[in-house]
Amino acid sequence: MAEPEIEGTLFTEEQVKVQVSELARRISEDYEDGQPLLVGILKGAFVFLADLARAMEIPVEFDFMALSSYGSMTKTSGVVRILKDLDTDITGRNVLIVEDLIDTGLTLNYLLRNIEARGPKSVEICALLNKRAANKVEIPIKYEGFSIPDVFVVGYGMDYAERYRNLPYIAGLKKQP
Ligand code: IMP
Ligand code: MG
Repeated sequence: MAEPEIEGTLFTEEQVKVQVSELARRISEDYEDGQPLLVGILKGAFVFLADLARAMEIPVEFDFMALSSYGSMTKTSGVVRILKDLDTDITGRNVLIVEDLIDTGLTLNYLLRNIEARGPKSVEICALLNKRAANKVEIPIKYEGFSIPDVFVVGYGMDYAERYRNLPYIAGLKKQP
């Protein structure tokens, strides 16, 4: 393979597409009457959000948040800082948080409490990947794409040191020496 750090494909472009369509179908059904605000978590969720939203058949709105968690490149500390907040007043809105991947769950745990404090009508989570074995807190993920083992993954929006976000498939990263 051309990329020396890439181990192998975890999910092909086609597998991702099928799963994203299924999630979009469920979300479209559930929010038929309630025009949700899709909140994408930057940067990782941008590819997933774009595909998910285009597979949906209901009117939606978009907003974005950027969070940084203190910690090393591949581990979360649980201390989260908001780098970019929502532009939208979410009081009384149906908010659907769209995230690429849940690892420890600490980032989303923080975010969920932060969003809930703003008085939305509802808050749900849609995550493409969940490393269940690595979860340190229980996160209620209503829409989950795939459960994956505790390996570092890249592609489809997800990075290692800002690289590989544009791979159209999801791959494992080789263990760093
Ligand atoms: P958590 O707070 O530990 O759940 O970390 C969540 C965030 O860390 C994800 O939204 C990703 O941005 C990043 N992350 C965790 N694991 C990976 C991975 O395997 N590849 C790329 N990013 C990851
Ligand atoms: Mg992320």
